[in-house]
Amino acid sequence: MECENVRFERGGVAVSIIDQTALPNEEVRLTLETAEECRSAIERLAVRGAPAIGIFAAFSFAMLARQTAASTGARGWELPVGDGFVHDMACLHDYLAESRPTAINLRWALDRMMGVVRIHSGEPRFDMLSALRAEAIAIQEEDAASCRAMAELGLGLIEDGWGLITHCNAGPLATSRYGTSLGPMLLGRERGMSFHVFADETRPLLQGARLTSYELDKAGVDVTLICDNMASIVMSQGWVQACFVGCDRVAANGDVANKIGTSGLAIIAEHYGVPFYVMCPTSTIDMGCATGADIPIEERDPDEIKTMFYERPMAPENVRCYNPAFDVTDHSLVTAIVTERGICRPPYEKSIAEALAEK
Ligand code: MRU
Repeated sequence: MECENVRFERGGVAVSIIDQTALPNEEVRLTLETAEECRSAIERLAVRGAPAIGIFAAFSFAMLARQTAASTGARGWELPVGDGFVHDMACLHDYLAESRPTAINLRWALDRMMGVVRIHSGEPRFDMLSALRAEAIAIQEEDAASCRAMAELGLGLIEDGWGLITHCNAGPLATSRYGTSLGPMLLGRERGMSFHVFADETRPLLQGARLTSYELDKAGVDVTLICDNMASIVMSQGWVQACFVGCDRVAANGDVANKIGTSGLAIIAEHYGVPFYVMCPTSTIDMGCATGADIPIEERDPDEIKTMFYERPMAPENVRCYNPAFDVTDHSLVTAIVTERGICRPPYEKSIAEALAEK
């Protein structure tokens, strides 16, 4: 289950991504070369999913650091990393980090990159650029290893033949490989197991319809697409034995922010007695947020609800719209949080702190 959705191009002077806005109709790569193009790719969800935007930001940062060095002339690479360079990279860090507010992986990855700049301050820029490139690749490889570990742990929670439900897209496109919540399904499929997966279409941007059903179908997993408001009837029939979702930020108490509609799914699952599993690497945990109330929720353009994907507007032009991109699921509704370091169960204050302490 390879998915090289982020990679360097032309020796590191550009970064390319799979354009997620073009799927499922076209499989195309976008090549990005400027800070504006990189930020815009994140904002308009050409690259999306918490781990993937962290990886992409790290690759963009390494690529743009190279440009900054080259802009000082032919010997730019040999010049020492001085305060001016560190300042320029700090501005770039903030510029990219502000592109989306909810997924903590974005800021986490950029903080790691900025740490490398600071460590190499005073040294030749060439060494710093090599270290930045290595750090970006390390972030991607660590994510692949985390996804694989989570897929194994998640697979241990389910049985062959089960019905599963997922919301939004937390597959290979949203990460580096396997994904988070799709990992157990994809790994199980590789091992000859079969699951029946219900994919919520995920209004308004249809990540479930456009990306999850595409990824599962391509991998040979039995998938049925449903509208978000059909989850209750599906669960009422006894067709679902477990819910699996990804996550954009976990608070210290186990509250989880994920794609809008996730908390509704968790409430329905609780009603029907279906376990609700959240899967994320530890880079998604933010101990700086005591509870979900501290997590910033991104609000997006109303036209995503009113006009996007429709041939004609589907609401009066001036009607007021509220379009939060994420919601917070209360920890009391979460059966377990699966990380690469193990499965956290309530009480989450303790299990999450233990997972983070283990290194
Ligand atoms: O707005 P998006 O498409 O970036 O939202 C993505 C999600 O909500 C995913 O579930 C989450 O980032 C986890 S991806 C492994």
